Amino acid sequence: MVQHLKHAYIAGTGYYVPKKVLTNKDLEKIVDTSDEWITTRTGIKERRIAAREETTSVIGAKAAKQALKAAGIKADELDLIITATITPDMPFPATSALIQNIIGACKAGVVDIEAACSGYIYAISMANQFIRTGEYKNILIVASEILSRITDWEDRNTCVLFGDAAGAAVIRESQSKSEIIAAYLGGDGAYKDLLYLPGGGSLNPVSKATIDKRLHYIKMKGNETFKVAVTQMSLSAEKVLEKAGMTKKDVSLLVPHQANLRIIQAVQKRLELPDDKVYINVNRYGNTSAATIAVAIAEAVQEGKVKKGDIILFVAFGGGFTWASALIRW
Ligand code: ACO
Repeated sequence: MVQHLKHAYIAGTGYYVPKKVLTNKDLEKIVDTSDEWITTRTGIKERRIAAREETTSVIGAKAAKQALKAAGIKADELDLIITATITPDMPFPATSALIQNIIGACKAGVVDIEAACSGYIYAISMANQFIRTGEYKNILIVASEILSRITDWEDRNTCVLFGDAAGAAVIRESQSKSEIIAAYLGGDGAYKDLLYLPGGGSLNPVSKATIDKRLHYIKMKGNETFKVAVTQMSLSAEKVLEKAGMTKKDVSLLVPHQANLRIIQAVQKRLELPDDKVYINVNRYGNTSAATIAVAIAEAVQEGKVKKGDIILFVAFGGGFTWASALIRW
């Protein structure tokens, strides 16, 4: 007997940002930079910095609890937890396992994925497959980052860009027209040296030398990364629309990865979307890698900017390089 595939939808979202605000003016006291440079080049005005006792799992669990509440399910009903992060609490156990322990998701499988800023969309796509085949009914995805701990606070090229935040979503089997319509995932490892963290892995195990050379911090060639980001985010948006048999006119709201206002505006222009159809919070949080879209959609929902039936377009770009897009009928 042929079994028809099911549909998955985003049943609830949540987010958490640390209390401490670090403004551009504060950064002027740390490195040779200015509020004017940061604002014109990136659109960022401030970012959040986690308190010492806050870890990726701790802030991820806060976002997760909100998402579970919004979805109206209990943690022990979860079948799987997928956490997207490049800043896990530690190499292992998985941050998902730590979150599972905090929230009490005793029946859930636990796994992390690492696709840098595209991680949230990769997680959505993976959760979608498990629900569509009928394997699982309730999946929690978490995108949580404490980038302030892998940021080189002596490097003005990167330290002005990043922040800490967590977002989460519960993906469930849909009984209505709400669904994850399509997703598109891509990447190209040939760009591995444009944005990366070289130290602490099997290539450069932690040693005094790796620390002296500051290899445990993010390295980025910003200008070259910028160009590929604009091209691939625009292409990813077009690819997922094509996959879904839709056009840019169908999009109700674009929720893009929040790395740089100029990248967002370039994608917006390519898609010919007016300002009120693009969600932006990079000014308040900076680039929080995998967490940006997870936080932005949760905020947009809380602000009443998303209505049932809206077509939401997610598009992201990150280290790897990776890129990804997803279309959601809310
Ligand atoms: N303050 C003042 N001057 C600065 C600063 C700063 N914070 N940082 C760099 N500069 C200087 C540079 O030294 C350079 O000076 P020079 O001309 O004398 O050499 C000048 O500003 C221009 O530098 P560029 O790097 O060419 O500046 P650009 O316009 O490209 O902006 C930026 C830099 C903001 C990093 C931009 O390139 C960018 O946003 N890149 C993409 C980032 C991104 O999307 N990353 C992917 C996701 S992140 C992830 O996956 C974790």
